[in-house]
Amino acid sequence: MHEKRYPSVREAEELLAEAEPHNPGPWAAHSRHVALCAEKIARASGGRLDPEKAYVLGLLHDIGRRFGKGQHIGHMLCGYRYLMDLGYPDAAKICLTHSYNTKRPGDDIGKHDGLPGEEEEIDAFIAACEYDDYDRLIQLCDCLGGAEGVMKIEDRMEGVRQRYGQYPQAKWDANVALFAYFEAMCGRDLYAVVRGEEA
Ligand SMILES: [Fe+2]
Repeated sequence: MHEKRYPSVREAEELLAEAEPHNPGPWAAHSRHVALCAEKIARASGGRLDPEKAYVLGLLHDIGRRFGKGQHIGHMLCGYRYLMDLGYPDAAKICLTHSYNTKRPGDDIGKHDGLPGEEEEIDAFIAACEYDDYDRLIQLCDCLGGAEGVMKIEDRMEGVRQRYGQYPQAKWDANVALFAYFEAMCGRDLYAVVRGEEA
């Protein structure tokens, strides 16, 4: 029997529904749009990505928000530990990798608000880990899925730039490259894919 390294769709939906009232906010709607974008891209990937896995990983990438408001470092580590405790290492990994698309800790935009040692813990994890297409997919979909629905990635990055006062050029370029990577994988306009338009 193969080990299940991420939850079923039903369980993932239950985890998010359970989490939302602990910390109500736009993050839950954002998570659902990220999941739908990831699922659609996976469906259009010619069998390279599993749509169900993509959906589940998207749904749970910000699950650490369950544990409190306004924590940037905390939301990643809490999500990672929570899903590791549940026995879902593939979903846990995404909680950490989704903010580090350049693999350079300095390009993370959030506040450096972790407890002593937490940032170092994340940096060591990121340095040691190999990204696969699921890590890349959720990094991209984090930019495609706003709380209201699908967005142009440049608009979403610009919004983040305004909220945080900066957006590292390397991270911007990495997201544009991820968009091109998955567009090439799908072989057609990626915005049409995530809007659910027929090929
Ligand atoms: Fe997110």
